[in-house]
Parts: sequence; C-alpha cells; structure tokens
Amino acid sequence: MENIKHLGIIMDGNRRWAEKASLQRFKGHDIGAEVFVNTCDWCIKEKIEYLTVYAFSTENWKRTKEEIVHIFKLLEKFFTEKIDLCIERGIKIKVIGERDNLAKKDILIIENAEKQTEICKNLKVQIALSYGGRNEIIRAVKKIAGDVLSTKILIKNIDEDIFEQYLDTAGIPDVDLVIRTGGAENRRLSNFLPWQTVYSELYFSEILWPDFSKDEFDKALTYYHSVPHKAGK
Ligand code: FPP
Repeated sequence: MENIKHLGIIMDGNRRWAEKASLQRFKGHDIGAEVFVNTCDWCIKEKIEYLTVYAFSTENWKRTKEEIVHIFKLLEKFFTEKIDLCIERGIKIKVIGERDNLAKKDILIIENAEKQTEICKNLKVQIALSYGGRNEIIRAVKKIAGDVLSTKILIKNIDEDIFEQYLDTAGIPDVDLVIRTGGAENRRLSNFLPWQTVYSELYFSEILWPDFSKDEFDKALTYYHSVPHKAGK
C-alpha cells in the first residue's frame, strides 16, 4: 500500500467550535493551534513526509482587525516558543504565501524559524500564511516572465516541471490527500494549492478543527487507502 507523501489540511471550524462551547470566538483558534501541533506528531508516526496547512488565506485579511491580530499573535507564539520542540521532533518549517503582506517583525520571526529547522528531516511542514493559490500562480508567472526577459529561460522550454519550480512549493511533491474539517457544507478547496491538488483525493470531515482527533485523522487515511486514487494519474 503506497504511503501518503504529502497531506494538505484546511483547518476549518474554529469559531463555530468556540461558539458551540460558549467560549470567546477566537478561543477556537487557540485550541486549533494546539491540534495542529498534535497533527504533526500523527504525521510523523505515519511517515508522512510533507504536511501543508492553511493557516491564513488571502481572503482572511477581510476579517476584523481584532481577529487578525489574535491569529498572528498565535502564529508568532508558535514560531518562537515551539521551535525547540520542532527541532527535537525533526520538523522542518516553511511558510508559503505572499510574504510581502506580513509585518516586518513577523517576516523576521518566520525566517528565523525556517533557518533553525532547515536541517530537520522527519516532517516538512508548510504553513500557508497570507496564502491564496491564484496569488501564488500570479507571483510564479511574474518570476518566470522576469527570467524570460533576462533570457535566463526560453519561452519554448517552459513546461509543467519548470513552472512548478517557480511556485512556493517548488520541489515538493503534489498533495496526495486534502482533509477539510468543519462540515460537509464546505466541499471546496477555497484557493488552497490549486496547482498541487489536481490529482488529490479529498476528505471532508464533519468535525470542527479544534475537535480533530487521532481517530478522525486515521479515518481520513483509511478513506485514502480505500479509493483507487492512482487511476487518474
Ligand atoms: C478557519 O476556521 C481557521 C482559520 C482562518 C485560522 C486557522 C489558524 C489556526 C488553527 C492557528 C494555526 C496555528 C499554527 C501554528 C499553524 P474559521 O475561523 O473559518 O472557523 P469558522 O468556519 O467556524 O468560522
């Protein structure tokens, strides 16, 4: 049975979880961040090589200032306080997305986290932050156009393999399975890795992200192994 190399997760349902639990809405993100850390461990146990999570989309910039500040404080906490834990567990951190939109201090924190975990090999985690798939493709087109203008590359040589090298996920294999939590009414990818998911299997979970458990993780993996997913490749 072929193992999952690259798992993508859309961590949806944090605020609804908090509302259901009669907690302040943003508390859902706090628990969600803890569940993300647990999920990294489950991936390592399953020998999954790459995990990409959708932490903050280009669309999420439309949320209230208060919520954006809260989410970024959480991320800053992760990139500073959890780095030793990442190194200990062999977790390599990479942030993908439109970095220019981030605060200078966050860019520095991220660069430091990436540098410190550079040599980690157990699990490569991509955190999609200020990320949108269309935005990623447009940035790739601009980079490739620049290389055409400077004659670093010839138009006739551009193919899928070359184009892939200009994406934020350059060198990372396509996504095998996408898990989206937060209810079956959201059966969509919402601008998450459009180039990288064309052949992915999709698992939509009723569970709200803060309730995502090892049991549900296992169910998603069982689903992946139960479908003839290699047929279309
Ligand atoms: C979607 O749920 C979740 C987010 C927009 C934020 C996700 C961020 C985290 C879980 C923190 C990540 C932390 C690290 C360290 C990666 P929602 O807010 O859309 O919830 P709703 O669907 O109930 O409104």
